[in-house]
Amino acid sequence: MNHFLDIHKTDPAALRTILDDALAMKSARKGLPRATLDAEKPLDGHMVALIFEKPSTRTRVSFDVGVRQMGGETMVLSGSDMQLGHGETIADTARVLSRYVDLIMIRTFDESVLLEMAEYADVPVINGLTDRTHPCQIMADVMTYEEHRGPIKGKKVVWCGDGNNVCASFLHAAAQFQFDLTFAGPAQLDPEDEFVGLARRAGCTIQIERDADKAVAGADLVVADTWVSMHDSQSTKERRHNQLRPYQVNQELMSKANDNALFMHCLPAHREEEVTSEVMDGPNSVIFDEAENRLHAQKAIMRYCLGR
Ligand code: CP
Ligand code: NVA
Repeated sequence: MNHFLDIHKTDPAALRTILDDALAMKSARKGLPRATLDAEKPLDGHMVALIFEKPSTRTRVSFDVGVRQMGGETMVLSGSDMQLGHGETIADTARVLSRYVDLIMIRTFDESVLLEMAEYADVPVINGLTDRTHPCQIMADVMTYEEHRGPIKGKKVVWCGDGNNVCASFLHAAAQFQFDLTFAGPAQLDPEDEFVGLARRAGCTIQIERDADKAVAGADLVVADTWVSMHDSQSTKERRHNQLRPYQVNQELMSKANDNALFMHCLPAHREEEVTSEVMDGPNSVIFDEAENRLHAQKAIMRYCLGR
């Protein structure tokens, strides 16, 4: 049984097959009305549970639409409405859900919830974001980069801002897809040593840089994310904004990257905070392609998980 828990837990050949499959499914749908079912319906007769303990627009809609395009059905569950939010253990929830559904996608807070769900479920489990990582997003991001610029191998990715869950999955992807990553942010918000060490051990050049201008020199891809994540207390907002302001991605900063450098953001974005509208809506931005590719990448991830 294949779970999809994190990018570094899936081998590079399988990750490449997922991206190839995603591209093939994307191109097969070109020109067709959105609501059309895929000609091949690998999820026919399958029920997928989508559990959300945090808000979501893209993950919720793209998983739901993706399952339906492949002929399956979904059940969207909010953590607080389930017994999960009222004392039932994760393990028992996993065992029960496994009697009803064929696949579980969960967005949660603590990574341990995801891991326990995967340990006790008899069906595959997909990580739809935890406080620590966001692997589905980065699969879509790698797909997006390669669609625009070719192989990501050997390229320089610069992460500007908080060393958060999305940054962590970028570090995992660096290891598996063999690209280099420079983190530009304040020392207080560095990515975890574990993630940096993993990418370095895989042979990637991972740099930690406090000066944003220096960091983006030679960048092929510049990435930003919100300064306050869903798991961060709002009481830290002012401090985080003060720490992160020097790392805002604006046109001046982008002009120091390579001319053809792309800009990415997983969204939702806070315009004029971590990134300016000029960059978000500018010619190097591929943010809406990233959002679209969540759909295609996750369809391929689900097929991988179900062996279909
Ligand atoms: N990027 C992303 O995961 O968006 P949502 O929080 O809207 O799902
Ligand atoms: N780092 C953000 C990503 C949202 C998709 C968060 O966890 O809130």
